[in-house]
Amino acid sequence: MSRVDTDAFRAALARFASGVTVVTARDAAGADHGMTVSAFSSLSLDPPLVLVCLDRSATALPALRDAECFGVSILAADQQAVSLRFAQQDIVRFDGVPTTRAPQGPALISGAVAHLVCRRVAEHPGGDHVILIGEVQSAEVHSDAPLVYAMRRYGRFEPDA
Ligand SMILES: Cc1cc2nc3c(=O)[nH]c(=O)nc-3n(C[C@H](O)[C@H](O)[C@H](O)COP(=O)(O)O)c2cc1C
Repeated sequence: MSRVDTDAFRAALARFASGVTVVTARDAAGADHGMTVSAFSSLSLDPPLVLVCLDRSATALPALRDAECFGVSILAADQQAVSLRFAQQDIVRFDGVPTTRAPQGPALISGAVAHLVCRRVAEHPGGDHVILIGEVQSAEVHSDAPLVYAMRRYGRFEPDA
């Protein structure tokens, strides 16, 4: 059985430009949890489904997979610091970060270009990650300049004129 070279695999994936999201949930005790996730994708229009791929070792994973609903904040071009903060360990990630709260529970990051609130409808194994599928309950758009991530660097979307 041939296995792909790990460096080539990583290098190829780094060339896939994505947006950056912060995925959030509130636990049964009312505490907020969240982490930076670029492995986010639309999945289905009817029903409206999205998916996120979460590292099995992420400390936020238990809260995200247990909550009935999770929030997705699609970060804006000026929110690199938020992206880094929600990937950082040993801090209270929400400290000093303005949020609003969805009626279903999850905190949503203020200043994001869009917010989705999703009801978790499925979980699938995905190697060292877990795939959560959410049915979108609400979608709100706030602005038009998303943060972009590729080649392990941040950038901004420059549409053709
Ligand atoms: C730009 C960026 C994108 C990331 N994308 C993902 C992702 O798609 N899935 C994931 O599990 N972790 C991703 N991470 C890493 C997690 O945010 C980070 O490892 C996690 O929050 C670690 O914290 P925890 O283990 O304390 O929860 C990403 C980090 C950054 C900075």
